[in-house]
Amino acid sequence: MSLPDSVHAVVVDGSFGLQNLRHTTGPMPAVGPGHVLLKVRAASLNYRDLMMVRGEYNPRQPLPLVPLSDGVGEVVATGPGVDEAMVGTRVASLFAQGWYAGDIPGDVTKHTLGGPLSGMLANYVVLPADGVIAVPDYLSDAEAATLPCAALTAWSALVTHGAVRAGDTVLVQGTGGVSLFALQFATALGARVLATSSSDEKLVRTRKLGAWETINYREQPKWGKRARQLTGGRGVDHVVEVGGAGTLQQSLRAVRAGGTISMIGVLSGGADKLNVTPVLMQQIRVQGVFVGHRAGFSAMLRALEHHQIHPVVDRVFSFADAPKAFEHMAAQRHFGKVCIGFD
Ligand SMILES: NC(=O)c1ccc[n+]([C@@H]2O[C@H](COP(=O)([O-])OP(=O)(O)OC[C@H]3O[C@@H](n4cnc5c(N)ncnc54)[C@H](OP(=O)(O)O)[C@@H]3O)[C@@H](O)[C@H]2O)c1
Repeated sequence: MSLPDSVHAVVVDGSFGLQNLRHTTGPMPAVGPGHVLLKVRAASLNYRDLMMVRGEYNPRQPLPLVPLSDGVGEVVATGPGVDEAMVGTRVASLFAQGWYAGDIPGDVTKHTLGGPLSGMLANYVVLPADGVIAVPDYLSDAEAATLPCAALTAWSALVTHGAVRAGDTVLVQGTGGVSLFALQFATALGARVLATSSSDEKLVRTRKLGAWETINYREQPKWGKRARQLTGGRGVDHVVEVGGAGTLQQSLRAVRAGGTISMIGVLSGGADKLNVTPVLMQQIRVQGVFVGHRAGFSAMLRALEHHQIHPVVDRVFSFADAPKAFEHMAAQRHFGKVCIGFD
């Protein structure tokens, strides 16, 4: 296959902000030892990418930066020491490069794509051969591109750390990427899902995806109490906490004694005052989750394929319209994943 001389990318440049996203071209990178060259077919956005571009995730991130941790592409060339049989394989990027299994490495945040490492919003990308993973054929390119961050985070929360079992009740907050994957995985595991959203229309859609009960958190700011009522006073077994400090009080109200809260996100901003006494008095397990490792990705792919789970793709923007995809996500009208397709 003959390769073009240049690579097209979108970068945030000059200073942070969605208005500073721009298209750029650069020379085709060399494929070094142990690396592969991907022709990127699709990428997806996470809330983290929005924060990264706005300078909220790491204000010291050097610019220009190619954003996005998540993408899928075809291996079109291999560097020295890599099996040439990888050429033609469709693979996804690994969010945390070099984390294969087991405990989280202390320096993990230095090895994540889309900041500080260059990300997937380019039509050709070079990555270590063990920094990508083959994806199942039944998924479309956009669907496969949603897996590296949001899906693996939900999987790590519920399976790797959470050990969710059939019959458990799992509460998911909102209808973004992580939460809808958590809904789908929990349902596949035989758990029942209590979904929350600011939109009744989105709640109807969560029921179609298998949610057992729903709560509009805007209409019911004390949704933790409502969740407890719905579970007959016992509380839910597991909360997928994507709101952070501003929602944790209600999560502590919703969760059963001895239950688990997976601390994942920061969507709600801060909290004025937080009473953490229930954590000790009710022996609640608060487990931090940072995406996950390669072994978890592999296990997740088996489960996805076995259950033929299709990620919920809200919309696919063209590469030319990539900056609009960030604006669409920032407006929080999406349901599931926002993606970018490459020609
Ligand atoms: N720790 C990790 O490894 C990890 C990995 C992935 C993501 N995250 C974090 O997890 C969070 C979710 O990420 P994402 O990519 O899934 O986001 P996303 O797709 O942008 O999700 C946005 C949705 O979250 C819901 N939401 C917003 N504020 C909320 C609140 N106060 N209470 C409940 N729901 C709220 C809204 O749903 P409705 O419109 O239905 O109300 C909104 O549409 C972010 O903070 C992200 O940084 C962390």
